[in-house]
Amino acid sequence: MHTRRDILRYGALAGAGLVLPGAVAAQTRTAMVPLVARVASAQLAPSEYPATEIWGYEGQAPGPVLRFGQGDRLARQFANELPQPTSIHWHGLRIPNAMDGVSGLTQDAVPSGGSFDYDFVMPDAGTYWYHGHNRSVEEVARGLYGALIVEEPQGPDVDRDDVLVLDDWRLDAETLQIPDDFDAPQDRSHGGRFGNLVTVNGTFDLSQSAKRNERLRLRLVNAANARTFQVGLSGLEGWIVALDGMPLAVPERFENGLILGSGQRADLLVDVVAETGETAHLIQYDNREEYSLATFAVTGTSARSRRGSPGPLPPNPGMDLPDLSDALATQLVVEGGAMGRMSGAMLDGNRRSFRDIASENQYWALNGNVGMPDTPLISVPKGDTVRMEVRNDTAFPHALHLHGMHFREILPDSQFGPLRDTLMSLRGETREIAFTADNPGKWLLHCHMLSHAAAGMMTWLEVT
Ligand code: C2O
Ligand code: CU
Repeated sequence: MHTRRDILRYGALAGAGLVLPGAVAAQTRTAMVPLVARVASAQLAPSEYPATEIWGYEGQAPGPVLRFGQGDRLARQFANELPQPTSIHWHGLRIPNAMDGVSGLTQDAVPSGGSFDYDFVMPDAGTYWYHGHNRSVEEVARGLYGALIVEEPQGPDVDRDDVLVLDDWRLDAETLQIPDDFDAPQDRSHGGRFGNLVTVNGTFDLSQSAKRNERLRLRLVNAANARTFQVGLSGLEGWIVALDGMPLAVPERFENGLILGSGQRADLLVDVVAETGETAHLIQYDNREEYSLATFAVTGTSARSRRGSPGPLPPNPGMDLPDLSDALATQLVVEGGAMGRMSGAMLDGNRRSFRDIASENQYWALNGNVGMPDTPLISVPKGDTVRMEVRNDTAFPHALHLHGMHFREILPDSQFGPLRDTLMSLRGETREIAFTADNPGKWLLHCHMLSHAAAGMMTWLEVT
């Protein structure tokens, strides 16, 4: 019990500049900037159509771009004003497990009206994103995501730095509202939940102006539930300098386009080569069609001439190649789905037939198990190397995302691929990845085609 005298005494002490534990806690709490998730309305389609009700961080879809410097601390008091529990996952950030934001694994979901403090230091520069991670298939489809950018202390020489968040929305053709069909068996058992309106930064016709010879850094984020973007350039020429946030050792010339699976990112450095009066485009190739994702109207020529080839971005800490000599070898077999050949799998601890599993609206198994298992796929001592063969024994591509650590593909010539956090695995393909298990905790591994994750394609591993 505090008496009035105690309180006065605390007041006096605080006034005298003495630090009390309570006062410190109060201070950190007030230093937390709020981040609110709420229902809002957005004009996704042309203005003659109605606005769409969305879920957004700060009421925006995408949410605000969160920008930091490398080594900065993110301190946000997240407030959930949505009608459902949720949590925030910071996709691609190598941060402590308790901050990873996976409802049911690293924290309890934040109930409607509740809040949670996210507080961590960001060790890596690069292009990341944040999104809801409770019922992701619904949250992300409703717009609950945003880009998170961590800048290098010495960034590349560019005229502009643009964040382009790609998404496709499923909207009712009449009302332009998002149908409540997040659990549709057709989406879950086939290619996932595709939309019918593609947007970049929440608008269907993003356009801006640029000058010939300008160099733009384009930070692409694929926030779509299932769609793989096949990106091309027109009137722009350049290089891929980072994938999934991590710098490439050598910038790669952008030649034949870029495949960006759900959850993946790419940083491009592009020079405007179109003439004044022309338009340059970021293009999406869709089967035989192609259309503009973003338009750059060329309004003149930059005062300076075109720059030479860029060097690599500065490396992030801990980008060394994994040491395979004592690696723990494991396998990830992806099975199930429509047109697959899975005869049965474990579901809730019992062996069930595929037909039986499908009757529960589940369709996919990882290593013969449907859905989140009680025990990890593997448990690895911190610092050890894991090599994992990933065998896609299904009729669909999958975008397999590992939380908390980046991996490299072991290429057939036993070279290593670039660091990534999401692997595009095509039907029938077997690939192998390796990573140093240097981040302790429980880390999710799942398909980022979110209907697939919800329908069984989810597991976790533990670093002890
Ligand atoms: Cu971007 Cu587990 O998710
Ligand atoms: Cu999948």
